[in-house]
Order: sequence, then C-alpha cells, then structure tokens
Amino acid sequence: MGRFDGKTALITGGARGQGRSHALRLAREGADVAILDIAAQVESVVYPTSTLEDLAATEAELKEFGGKVLAIQCDVRDQAQVETAVKQVETEFGGLDIVLANAGVMASYGKKKHDMAAWDDSVAIMLNGVYYLLRAVTPGFAERNNGGAIVITGSTSSYIGVAYKEELLNPGQMGYGAAKSGVLSLMRNFAMALGKYGVRVNTVIPAGVATKMIKNEFFEADLADDAPGGWMANVMNRGPVEPEEITNAVTWLCSDESRFVTGQSLAVDMGTLLL
Ligand SMILES: NC(=O)c1ccc[n+]([C@@H]2O[C@H](COP(=O)([O-])OP(=O)(O)OC[C@H]3O[C@@H](n4cnc5c(N)ncnc54)[C@H](O)[C@@H]3O)[C@@H](O)[C@H]2O)c1
Repeated sequence: MGRFDGKTALITGGARGQGRSHALRLAREGADVAILDIAAQVESVVYPTSTLEDLAATEAELKEFGGKVLAIQCDVRDQAQVETAVKQVETEFGGLDIVLANAGVMASYGKKKHDMAAWDDSVAIMLNGVYYLLRAVTPGFAERNNGGAIVITGSTSSYIGVAYKEELLNPGQMGYGAAKSGVLSLMRNFAMALGKYGVRVNTVIPAGVATKMIKNEFFEADLADDAPGGWMANVMNRGPVEPEEITNAVTWLCSDESRFVTGQSLAVDMGTLLL
C-alpha cells in the first residue's frame, strides 16, 4: 500500500531537479503522475534549462512504477498551454488530487540578469505561471468536491532580501524575489476559497538545493564571490541539500497526515530564516 494509491498528480517543472524528485516519490508511492515542463531553453537564463531528453528520461523512470504517466511539453508562461495541459491530464486521469506548482528559473546571475527580460521571465514563470495553474485546476477541484492538495514552491526569497550590494537590484534578482513573495498571496487566497472543498494550498520554502539551478559555473562565479560573511547562512552550517529533502516535506503536505494544514509555508531551510 502506497500513501498515494489511487491519487493523481500534476507537477510543473517535472523534467528534472526537485520536480523530478517529487514526481518519482509520488509515483513510487502509488500515484498516477503528469509532468509538465518547457523542455527548452528559457532565453533570459544563462544556465541550460531542461531538454526534451530530460522530459523523456523522467517519463521513462516514472513508468517503471507501473502507474499512468503523462509527460507534456508546456510553457507555464502561456495561459492557453497551461489550460490545455490541465484539461488533458484531468481527462486522461479522470481528475486531479495533487498539484505542484514547482517550475522556476533563476535569471539573477550572469550577464543576462541586467536585461528586463530577466524580470519578465521570472515573474511570468514563477508568479503568472503559478496563477494560471491554480486558476486552471480550480473548477475541477470545485466540481469534484473531493479534497486535494496544492503545493507551491517558494524560496527563502519569499521572506528575505538578498541585496547586500546595489548590483543585486538587477531585474533577474528582483523578479525572482517579487515572484516568490507574490505566490504567498496566491497561496493564502486560494487556500481560503478552496477550503470548503477540502482542498489545501501550502508553500514549501527551500533554501539551497543541489540542482542545475545553482550547481553551474555561472552561479558559482557570479553570486558567491564577494558576499559578506554570513550571507545566506543557516544555523546548521549546511550547504545545499538534495532534492529528496524537499520532496519529504512536499509529500507530507500532499498526504492525509497534513489533512488540516492549509495556507502555511513550510521552510526546509536549515534555519536560514532564523538569521
Ligand atoms: N535550487 C535551489 O537552490 C532552489 C532554492 C529555492 C527554491 N527553488 C525553486 O525550486 C523550484 C525547482 O527548481 P530546481 O531547483 O529543481 O531547478 P531546475 O532548474 O533543476 O528545475 C526547474 C525546472 O523548471 C522548468 N521550467 C523553467 N521554466 C519553465 C517554464 N516556463 N514552463 C515550464 N517549465 C519550466 C525547467 O525546465 C526545469 O526542468 C523552482 O521554483 C525554484 O525557484 C530552488
């Protein structure tokens, strides 16, 4: 018996990184899983975003658990694509129980961070994209009236600033923080309105996670070099954690063990927000 037997899940940014990790855990514990991902380069981002090969590889891994699997190329910046993908998943899975708004980019380092496109893409993906997804799944949750769990991926930037120098006021960095702060408002309002259907809406707050978003030459060369001591420190003195650590929190928020938890942010941040 898996914790998610008979459940269906949709995950944006599911081709790799944290989204892939969440998808694999949900599938291993019995869920039918749909992964949505741009599977293409986001132009304002200097590191490679995912590819069609990443999407296909994760799809193949998911199929090994024996449940239904859908892998859909979808750019969450495009409302019509999000609505079409949600309809497809609801039709093929017969409904949705779990929705993870996880897709994201970090356009805050490298040369492109100074272009206003870095702001536009950050907000389009991590704020507009989350809103499009939550809007698209709301009618189905209301109609089924059978509960559900939505988890948005925030960041410690949902709560704290990082601008230890003016240069960090660049469009990429500001777009990231603005989007990650904005999703807290989406969480609170969707949690209020969907509570009567038994649908819970929460946010997970990771600090550093060892994915390609931060494990790349550009991040290391740009952001860390002249930071003051203690910048982005945490009370446990730990470096980036593995995606599975965030998955532990996300799957708890999706499970019946948290059935009365809604409108909450769960930080898996080694105490970053304490400082
Ligand atoms: N890695 C960290 O240190 C860290 C810390 C805090 C929060 N986060 C957040 O965690 C989430 C997952 O990131 P990750 O660490 O797994 O990085 P990642 O780059 O490995 O994964 C992000 C995924 O989102 C996809 N994506 C990007 N733009 C998209 C779009 N327009 N439409 C659909 N998919 C799109 C990418 O292709 C990629 O597969 C993001 O929201 C990120 O902001 C990451």
